[in-house]
Amino acid sequence: MTITESSTGTATAITVRKVTGRIGAEISGVDLSRELDPGTVAALRTAVNEHKALVFRDVHLDDAGQERFARSFGELTTAHPTVPAQEGAPNVLPVDSEQGRANHWHTDVTFVLNPPQLSTLRSIVIPPYGGETLIANSAAAYRDLPAPLRAFADTLWAVHTNDYDYAVPQEGLDEEARERRSVFTSITYETVHPVVRVHPLTGERGLFIGGFAQRIVGLSAAESRDVLRLLQSYVTRPENVLRWRWEPDQLVLFDNRITQHYAVDNYDDQPRRLNRVTVAGDVPVGPDGSKSHSVKGDASHYTPLP
Ligand SMILES: [Fe+2]
Repeated sequence: MTITESSTGTATAITVRKVTGRIGAEISGVDLSRELDPGTVAALRTAVNEHKALVFRDVHLDDAGQERFARSFGELTTAHPTVPAQEGAPNVLPVDSEQGRANHWHTDVTFVLNPPQLSTLRSIVIPPYGGETLIANSAAAYRDLPAPLRAFADTLWAVHTNDYDYAVPQEGLDEEARERRSVFTSITYETVHPVVRVHPLTGERGLFIGGFAQRIVGLSAAESRDVLRLLQSYVTRPENVLRWRWEPDQLVLFDNRITQHYAVDNYDDQPRRLNRVTVAGDVPVGPDGSKSHSVKGDASHYTPLP
């Protein structure tokens, strides 16, 4: 599909090529090293609304260039609520295999009241094999639910926190990993979000859960685990997942309101490094129009409230 936008007088031809039926598109015809005109930004917004994850090749950006690109979609967050930024680049979070491996399904920073609306990842160091990023379309997952489960999910709310019962227990960690975890949880956040989030731009409903969702309001820990596991199994269906094999100089933009992602830990001890810049988001809204609320933790140093 080629979109021609000429709202600014300058015609921009963007080519959008689907990678899979349900998620992902490769974009060409956009020069990310320049300030984007409003028509191009609008065309990319339309594409991300539809495809959830956009891939750009041969981008040749530095940190400032990635920040400028991300900023064309809205105000940026700082790097992270608790993890330090890349030196000299307060909006850039280094996602480095030496600092841990994000091989768990999650949506970025959902433990705060208004998690980022968009995440950008740029390849810096790519292992010779493996290291793919999986990105799942949680709206497709919601549509896959049988009608009674969909109706049930519509009524649920979940507590998201950064301080949870991790897959690897504290005593199984080496000293460095323990230190990283204590930095990650140096401020405890807890936020209650709808399990089904209505996308503010498209009205589409998606499952809004992922690794930080730890408990369903009104259910016991054991019941919560079972319900979350059941819903999550629809998110991670292979049909709903893009498996992106990184190459140098690539940038992936994904809609953090309606996707989950996972960094596959299949590259042995090879280094892997991506730089992440995120665009500040809105407060999630559930199917009945109610909004998320914060229980614990001030994130005002991380993200502006809309
Ligand atoms: Fe992430």
